[in-house]
Amino acid sequence: MSAKLTWVRACAPCSTANLGPGFDVFGLALDLFYDTVTVRLAKSSSIKVRGPHASRVPDEFNENSAGVVVSEFLKRLGVDAFVEVELEKGVPIGMGLGSSGASAAATALALNKLLGEPFGKRELVEIAAEGERASAGEPHADNVSASLLGGFTLIRSYRPLDVAHVEPPVNLGVVVAIPEVEVPPKKTGVSRSVLPKSVELEKVVHNVGHASAIALGMAIGDLELVGRGMSDAIVEPAREKLVPGYVEVRQSALRSGALGVAISGAGPSMLVLVDTATCDWRKVAEAVREAYSSIGVNAFVHFCRPSRGAKIVAEG
Ligand code: HSE
Repeated sequence: MSAKLTWVRACAPCSTANLGPGFDVFGLALDLFYDTVTVRLAKSSSIKVRGPHASRVPDEFNENSAGVVVSEFLKRLGVDAFVEVELEKGVPIGMGLGSSGASAAATALALNKLLGEPFGKRELVEIAAEGERASAGEPHADNVSASLLGGFTLIRSYRPLDVAHVEPPVNLGVVVAIPEVEVPPKKTGVSRSVLPKSVELEKVVHNVGHASAIALGMAIGDLELVGRGMSDAIVEPAREKLVPGYVEVRQSALRSGALGVAISGAGPSMLVLVDTATCDWRKVAEAVREAYSSIGVNAFVHFCRPSRGAKIVAEG
């Protein structure tokens, strides 16, 4: 344990999961919104949440993903300690942008630094994934791996956890559309409840082929291949009715030159990938805005690049 540090602050980016066929497998960190977490050893554990989205986050220690991560971290380490957490919530909640994953990732990284770095990155992803229980009811590592490691990540296996990571091609641009709609509490659980319990082999073959194209395209820098891979025969058909503008946004974005389109995580945001070397992202963003406006939905449409992941920003 470090004798010097009494507090550590880390920030972690939002992320998008799935990218179409890579359900619960693919993650991409986005340089768009960040959660910032400060941890310090204290006489009792507590959590304070601040920031534009604070009112929508549980401030019960064990119901907040940051609190769950602290408990899991200390349990694994076999240390009896109390930790005060301050969470500055910058990632919108329940919009499919890995909000709880960002809190979990920043907390795991900050606490690891505070306690002398007992865990490596893979274990931190595992610990942070436990934080997802607080929002989704079960641990997912797709968003947290992206938030922690940055770039494009894939979960090869959950048990044991095996995460691979690559920097995406430099020309990858991301248009993220966040519709202004009400989302139910525990939305991820709701959008997982509509998924099929069994799947025809033909659809599995489709998804394996397409997901492999995305992974290979990311690895060799072939953005066209990434785009061609963004088609999901299993999860999106079941979820699209929960996502306002799914059909319209997909059509308009592809027509305006986007590489590929997918529901961002469990939705309702939409993810649009562009090759900024060959396509003007502003035109794509405008087409996406028009698609929402054609169905009478307001949407915030942002452009960003992949993020390099969570980092320590201050300590004392
Ligand atoms: N892969 C998850 C889903 C992302 O689509 O339900 C949310 O954690």
